[in-house]
Amino acid sequence: MLSAIGVGKRFLAPQGMVHALADVSLRVGEGEFVCVVGPSGCGKTTLLRILGALEQPSSGHVERVGEPGIRSAAFVFQDFGMLPWLTVRANAAFGLRMTGVRRHAAEGASYRWLKRMGLADFADSYPDQLSGGMRQRLALARAFATGSPVLLMDEPLGSLDPQTRRLMQELLLELWQEERKTVVLVTHSIDEAILLGDRVLVMSARPRRVTDEFEVPFARPRDPEILDSAEFGWLRARVWSQLRAQLTGPRTEDCTPPRGRTDVQTDHRHGGAQ
Ligand SMILES: Nc1ncnc2c1ncn2[C@@H]1O[C@H](COP(=O)(O)OP(=O)(O)OP(=O)(O)O)[C@@H](O)[C@H]1O
Ligand SMILES: [Mg+2]
Repeated sequence: MLSAIGVGKRFLAPQGMVHALADVSLRVGEGEFVCVVGPSGCGKTTLLRILGALEQPSSGHVERVGEPGIRSAAFVFQDFGMLPWLTVRANAAFGLRMTGVRRHAAEGASYRWLKRMGLADFADSYPDQLSGGMRQRLALARAFATGSPVLLMDEPLGSLDPQTRRLMQELLLELWQEERKTVVLVTHSIDEAILLGDRVLVMSARPRRVTDEFEVPFARPRDPEILDSAEFGWLRARVWSQLRAQLTGPRTEDCTPPRGRTDVQTDHRHGGAQ
């Protein structure tokens, strides 16, 4: 459905050439949910942008089977990507409008998603009148409303408080089980990656590529209670051990500091990365 083959990306920045991605190959099957974890600045956002054709790779290529349109993927961005001058209703319809759907039809189709996300009463509000959790649900409504079979999500729950985040994880689990989209989700939370994903990919910063891959063995539909199971704890420890090696290894000039991002969040409950 979606493949990256030997994808590399270089940026010319004021400090010189930045190798944002070295050589990334991955394959995401139709209806598969793949999560990507990795140190800050290892190229996760760059990879998503290349998968979604927002950015061209410097080497290698991306294949999207059965998807002739270039912008056939819907994004949920790290910062939500809301347009503050548009109402909630218009923001929800924005993704669909960008595919050429007329305003009336786009707002009609996306209203269903506003209702599904519990935002129908706020349709005429503006994004800055919403809480963080509501803005996040709006971002999801906009992405789902496009009807795109591919969803690319960049730390979609990263800015939420732990309780809201947990509820949103459950909502995402539910939505994916209903809609069966092909999803690539970047997260700093190992728990989130295992709870939601069919596979978890670990990226390294030296060089910036995928180094490890874990199959998630839990059956669907998934009950969030699996978070407390021994098997979950075992997989969490294995992923964390690989990610930890990426976080604590020596840095090279190829791994420039991230732009205003913090590192993996630590979940003290489990003594590892969340
Ligand atoms: N447009 C750009 N111009 C120059 N350098 C860039 C650009 N975009 C990304 N980079 C650099 O590429 C590297 C990878 O960035 P990217 O944003 O993909 O990392 P990330 O894994 O998403 O980080 P985070 O976890 O902090 O979001 C970083 O060193 C970053 O500074
Ligand atoms: Mg990023």
